[in-house]
Amino acid sequence: MARTVSTNPLRDPRDRRLPRLPEPCALVVFGVTGDLAKKKLIPAVYDLANRGLLPPGFVLLGFARRDWEDQDFADLAREAAKEGSRTPFRDEVWDRLAGSLKFLSGAFDDDDAFDRLAQELRDLEASHGIQGNAAFYLSIPPPAFPTVLKQMERTQMASNEAAGGWRRVVVEKPFGHDLESARELNSLVDDVFSPGDVFRIDHYLGKETVQNLLALRFANTLFEPIWGSHFVDSVQITMAEDVGIGSRAGFYDETGAARDVLQNHLLQLLALTAMEEPVSFNADAIRTEKLKALRAISLPEDLARYAVRGQYEQGWLAGQRVKGYLDEANIPADSSTETYAGVRLGIETRRWAGVPFYLRTGKRLPRRVTEIAVSFKRAPHLPFDVTDTTELGHNQLVIRVQPDEGVTLRFGSKVPGSAMEVRDVAMDFLYGEAFTEGSPEAYERLILDVLIGDGTLFPNNDEVEASWRVIDPLEAYWRDTKPHPYRAGEWGPAAADEMLEADGRRWRRP
Ligand code: BG6
Repeated sequence: MARTVSTNPLRDPRDRRLPRLPEPCALVVFGVTGDLAKKKLIPAVYDLANRGLLPPGFVLLGFARRDWEDQDFADLAREAAKEGSRTPFRDEVWDRLAGSLKFLSGAFDDDDAFDRLAQELRDLEASHGIQGNAAFYLSIPPPAFPTVLKQMERTQMASNEAAGGWRRVVVEKPFGHDLESARELNSLVDDVFSPGDVFRIDHYLGKETVQNLLALRFANTLFEPIWGSHFVDSVQITMAEDVGIGSRAGFYDETGAARDVLQNHLLQLLALTAMEEPVSFNADAIRTEKLKALRAISLPEDLARYAVRGQYEQGWLAGQRVKGYLDEANIPADSSTETYAGVRLGIETRRWAGVPFYLRTGKRLPRRVTEIAVSFKRAPHLPFDVTDTTELGHNQLVIRVQPDEGVTLRFGSKVPGSAMEVRDVAMDFLYGEAFTEGSPEAYERLILDVLIGDGTLFPNNDEVEASWRVIDPLEAYWRDTKPHPYRAGEWGPAAADEMLEADGRRWRRP
């Protein structure tokens, strides 16, 4: 039979602008009483409901140790949605969603609880028409992954065939704590789920501004010709936070800034900045190019100078006195975990040879800001008097991931007047001004993609392993060193400034 393509663009199945709706399904969240679920996952589910993007047969099933009834969970979820949702809270939306909430109480090593969960999922087919489809979100500490995965295998919960629908798993970062453990975890996940059904979350990829990097680079002609060592002097990627470690002492002290942010968010931003154009915009093609970039990363030989870690001491932030890391609750007084990591990386490709990529992340820095700043070389010749251009810096393209989402181009311009004086000016694109529609939250986008089965914005295992290959030598080098202290409210330790000064550069002050 000839395939017919509708002439009505609104009915053309290839039109990806149409709202994409998942099939009926359940979203099972392990660790649903934890911080991530309360602050991000539940509000994101509410926002999807509010935007009409959840299917009619949808169930949010919370699983946690607490001895709760459905109603207790519904109360928690309502509060979480009210507090954390991006879109306005509306009672009528909530009332509809509330009918789709279920709670199951149990410990991860409790066979009986998982048998009940398997049975519940079968029952939901009749009661809510989920058609055997379920996504399992592991919002739990990484050490609990093996137990939960084995339970899913034992109860056949992970099997598409047994379920008669699709079964998917969502794994939160960090995926392992080094290359070896990531491999072990991966083989464990692979034993239970097929690779296409595994969604590794790096929520930075769900951010609009991060996706815009691809649009900026590959939908325009303007930037690509100058995107490389002929024109670029250096790149700085910053993910700074003013917050401390909050209530995550246990997790954070085991993890540190390099594993928490550098290994995933920052390396993904680097990969998107440095990658070649994908042959198409599907998951495989994009991952292939990102992977090539990640595999081409090189570490500096002189790690003592170019790999700096720090730990915040007490200081002042927004007029408030804040504690040092070692004084935070439940942090050992002699902890040498870093809360700041800065490193210079290279990319060994023809495009990027010789261009340093400076990456940094830290807690208790002066403000929350994530940006990618591409700094261009100076003009090879300036036909002005030296004094005319003393105020002229490097041309820069700054992709502001958050807050103030947008893009800034900095270049030199003549100062009005009779003299020829050139000074830096900025041209700004602001999402908030250019578009009337607000950007979805990262988790909103990513949960929807999981339910639809679109893996484009999820790193695959090869990327995760390539990233650990960068981090492992850093961690090995840092193991026997103490982090440099920095005062809360300052831009990291002095050693991080010295790292750039050694190269004749300076960190941007965003
Ligand atoms: C998480 C880290 O992945 O990202 C946290 O574990 C960090 O330590 C958070 O605070 C920051 O996310 P965002 O979206 O607020 O920049």
